[in-house]
Amino acid sequence: MTGSSSPNPHYTLPNEWDFADERLALLGAAYDPDSIALAQQLGVGAGWRCLEAGAGGGSFARWLCSVAMPGGRVVAVDADPRHLADLPGRGGEVAQIDLVTDEIPSGDFDFDFVHTRFVLLHIAQRDVVLERLVRALAPGGVLLLEEGDGLGVLREMPGAFGEVWRAFARATEAAGANQAWARNLPAQLEALGLVDVHAEAQIPVFRGASAMARMWELTWAQVHESLMEQGVSREVIATARAELRNGQRWFYAPPTVRVWARAQS
Ligand SMILES: C[S@@+](CC[C@H](N)C(=O)[O-])C[C@H]1O[C@@H](n2cnc3c(N)ncnc32)[C@H](O)[C@@H]1O
Repeated sequence: MTGSSSPNPHYTLPNEWDFADERLALLGAAYDPDSIALAQQLGVGAGWRCLEAGAGGGSFARWLCSVAMPGGRVVAVDADPRHLADLPGRGGEVAQIDLVTDEIPSGDFDFDFVHTRFVLLHIAQRDVVLERLVRALAPGGVLLLEEGDGLGVLREMPGAFGEVWRAFARATEAAGANQAWARNLPAQLEALGLVDVHAEAQIPVFRGASAMARMWELTWAQVHESLMEQGVSREVIATARAELRNGQRWFYAPPTVRVWARAQS
């Protein structure tokens, strides 16, 4: 593991929280299948040099290690890489960096595949980071961004879950996030000179007591104080968390905007 920066002080859901490893593992379990299916469709495989930016719990970086080796490289970076300690044993490389200010540790090569998931929306200087990620691509390299967007959900999601989600969105935005940024990514990638730009938005629909429901319940637990600062009562938060434990209830989460494109060859 390399690097010396301190964890991002503005991030709403720091990895040092007691249950962060469980929360990140649930996030991976809920989102990895679609991320992996798309990466496979894009050809990611043996010999690819991959950058996982904001690797978090590391589940996607672990999958990258399983397909890129032998012959490839997997560099997983995070402001707080405490959950990535097993990656070197799988052939990956880990670096603690702040994506805004620190050099991306690409050594003497550029990347064939650069990926983020639920990272850039949280970073106030996200446009600067985006340009740096684009510059890290090898000619013909693939950029895949999977970022959340409150599109539609911010206003319309009903019940206690909706009220808490809106307060969560406000709390993240007070810390520098932008819940309305990802929808503009296709145009932004084109403006940055990438080609073959594709995009889709997917709204996860999930049952109470599922992995995704537990992930949101832990999210509310982690940001409990911030939610109250945003004017949501303890009772409403408790109701939202109880609803998430109810296997008879169904919910939908904010859309995941997936955008992928290639650097010119
Ligand atoms: C919501 S988690 C997503 C983790 C992982 N990408 C996933 O989808 O499972 C966001 C991650 O981005 C990292 N992060 C936030 N701001 C960062 C920054 N400025 N530089 C590097 N990493 C950052 C956090 O430490 C955290 O691990």
